[in-house]
Amino acid sequence: MSRTASAYRDINTTIHPYTNLKAHESEGPLVITEGDGVFVRDENGKSYLEGLAGLWCASLGFSDRRLAEAAYRQMLKLPFYHTFAHKAVEVGAELAQKLLSIAPAHMSKVFFVNSGSEANDTVVKLVWYYNNAIGRPQKKKIISRNKAYHGVTAASASLTGLPNNHRDFDLPIAKILHVECPHFYRFGLPGETEEAFAGRLADSLEQRILSEGPDTVAAMIAEPIMGAGGVLLPPATYFEKIQTILKKYDILLIADEVICGFGRTGEMWGSVTYGLQPDIITCAKALSAGYAPIGAVMIAEPIYDALVEQSEKIGIFGHGFTYTGHPVSSAVALATLNIYEQDDILSHVRGVAPRMQQRLRAFSDHPLVGEIRGIGLIGAVELVADKSTRAPFEPAEAVGPHLYKRAQHHGLIVRPIGDSIAFCPPLIISDDEIDLMCDRFALALDDTLAMVRQRGILKDSVVYARAT
Ligand SMILES: Cc1ncc(COP(=O)(O)O)c(C=O)c1O
Repeated sequence: MSRTASAYRDINTTIHPYTNLKAHESEGPLVITEGDGVFVRDENGKSYLEGLAGLWCASLGFSDRRLAEAAYRQMLKLPFYHTFAHKAVEVGAELAQKLLSIAPAHMSKVFFVNSGSEANDTVVKLVWYYNNAIGRPQKKKIISRNKAYHGVTAASASLTGLPNNHRDFDLPIAKILHVECPHFYRFGLPGETEEAFAGRLADSLEQRILSEGPDTVAAMIAEPIMGAGGVLLPPATYFEKIQTILKKYDILLIADEVICGFGRTGEMWGSVTYGLQPDIITCAKALSAGYAPIGAVMIAEPIYDALVEQSEKIGIFGHGFTYTGHPVSSAVALATLNIYEQDDILSHVRGVAPRMQQRLRAFSDHPLVGEIRGIGLIGAVELVADKSTRAPFEPAEAVGPHLYKRAQHHGLIVRPIGDSIAFCPPLIISDDEIDLMCDRFALALDDTLAMVRQRGILKDSVVYARAT
């Protein structure tokens, strides 16, 4: 297809996040121009089912007029005001009240930001400020996990446990530790149960805390389900065991609900699904259904009390963004939370999720498929070079990215995370649309199988015929 004027303009002007910038100069962009329900359309009129809700965020799809109207009304009334130095906007406080009322644990106050990265960056500073306030200036280290994703600003990228977010950016910053990734399929030992795996990781966490010195460890951050690391569900009893260790050493738990929050798992929060009792919660993305940039940090009472005391001592709480509590983003977020309630989005997710999970699991006998995992409306299919040994493909073969391109050819947008293909469709998806998503995925999977067979890199000898 010949390159359009907007594609040329993009190549000549724009740096793309998470893109091979050299490849982009020759491959160019897919320019998306419109959205409707769970579908988006490119500038040539081709339609795609958005199997990742954009970036795990467009929970209400791409054409909810109620959100557009909420933004418009707020723009006409008060398009901007800030919240520095005792100023407030009405809709911000309303949103904060609403968030606190649905939080998965008792939270005292909300601090608004513009993104998940800013939320987690803010948390790092709050944890440090808090421990200074309560006279524990040495208790500052924050534990994260390999393959965690917490964002890209300097501190949140440091929390992220993915090599490409550190490499050549001179990260991580000091005082950030990474412990084992709880992916049972990849890191469980032969014969080990999920519970035993969780126990081993909890023991290892405790050893790490002891070797660092418990009085130097302030907090641990965790996504209930690790999203951008590959949609990795916690093994049975993992959070129960981890939280026992954290409590023992007086270490705060930060739940990163940026993907899991607002119904994704079939509960309002991933913390509810997996029994987390966090002291701090971060959220973004589906907070505004992706229609406006906004995130939030919620903190428990003792942390708030310490911030109050410290800011009184210093004379100011010296943190905040121009757009903290932006009225338009707040209005859109408030409308989003109201829609979740009015439309009973949780019941809808619980109604359709079994279909998505069953349809994905039906791929388990495919020769390329190693593991299928998921819950609610999030899932992943992990491709392997050898089903029996779970051996992955060489990254240079780019098998996942190949599938992603074939899916796009068939009118489906999904996300390859290495060779794990992630699904996280808008929460409003219907049964028929789930079928369409999985049918298109099946075509891309078979195209990919043909490719790996042709290259001779599939080590499985099982002859496969997909039931039609
Ligand atoms: C769990 C999690 N935390 C934080 C972030 C960072 O959010 P943002 O891209 O809005 O900065 C993401 C983004 O995908 C995420 O998945």
